[in-house]
Amino acid sequence: MNYTVVLPAAGSGKRMGAAYNKLFLKLNGKPILAHTLEVFQLDPWCEEIVLAINEQERQDIEKLITQYQLTKVTKLVQGGDERQHSVYAALQAASGAEIVLVHDAARPFILQETIHALVEKATASGGAIAAVKAKDTMKRVVDGQVQETIDRETLWSVQTPQAFQYELLMKAARQADEQGFLGTDEGMLAERAGIPVYVVESSYDNQKMTTPEDLVLGEGILRRREETK
Ligand code: CTP
Ligand code: MG
Repeated sequence: MNYTVVLPAAGSGKRMGAAYNKLFLKLNGKPILAHTLEVFQLDPWCEEIVLAINEQERQDIEKLITQYQLTKVTKLVQGGDERQHSVYAALQAASGAEIVLVHDAARPFILQETIHALVEKATASGGAIAAVKAKDTMKRVVDGQVQETIDRETLWSVQTPQAFQYELLMKAARQADEQGFLGTDEGMLAERAGIPVYVVESSYDNQKMTTPEDLVLGEGILRRREETK
């Protein structure tokens, strides 16, 4: 079962507070971007990797691709101002794919078993997004006052990858683009286009490297994986 993966990598990493794109920060001596790309390079189901990048980082990314022998990366397209714009540009470059996955380049700990479950579900049903069950008690709050406690059983924290039949996601993305709608994930675009979206239970390890604390967590995940190998 094959798929193409689209990786938005054209952010600037403001919340990380580094002087450059956080994806070049290293975990165990290897850039976050290389960790993420290697997962897909090593997955036999992955046919092609399309990256949305900042144009001024093109040379550094080409160097990284050569250094880590990431031969499945076929296209580097220019990203946009918002993540959704970067994804849309990369999706257009992925035409011809049947199943497409969108995955944040800043999530290096995605497991192959989750990817495969997503591809299978999207193939059967349209769309599937990685998510984990909410761990905390959740309440709705307005102006500092609790309105209600929400039944946790129905709440999921959503991650990427998000997998779709390519034509369905393109239809949803095109519609959002035409209407100037900005969503926070691809699932949201699909939902409003009437496309069925299912969740696939993922791992709590599949964290996005967003703030400096996440790097400490990331090093910890790598250490544990090293020890339990
Ligand atoms: N991204 C992108 N194009 C943008 C913004 C984000 O391709 N215009 C990518 C990032 O590179 C990252 C993923 O989308 O891999 C998730 O975004 P986020 O974690 O928010 O990264 P940044 O936007 O870089 O970080 P920040 O919001 O802290 O500036
Ligand atoms: Mg961002």
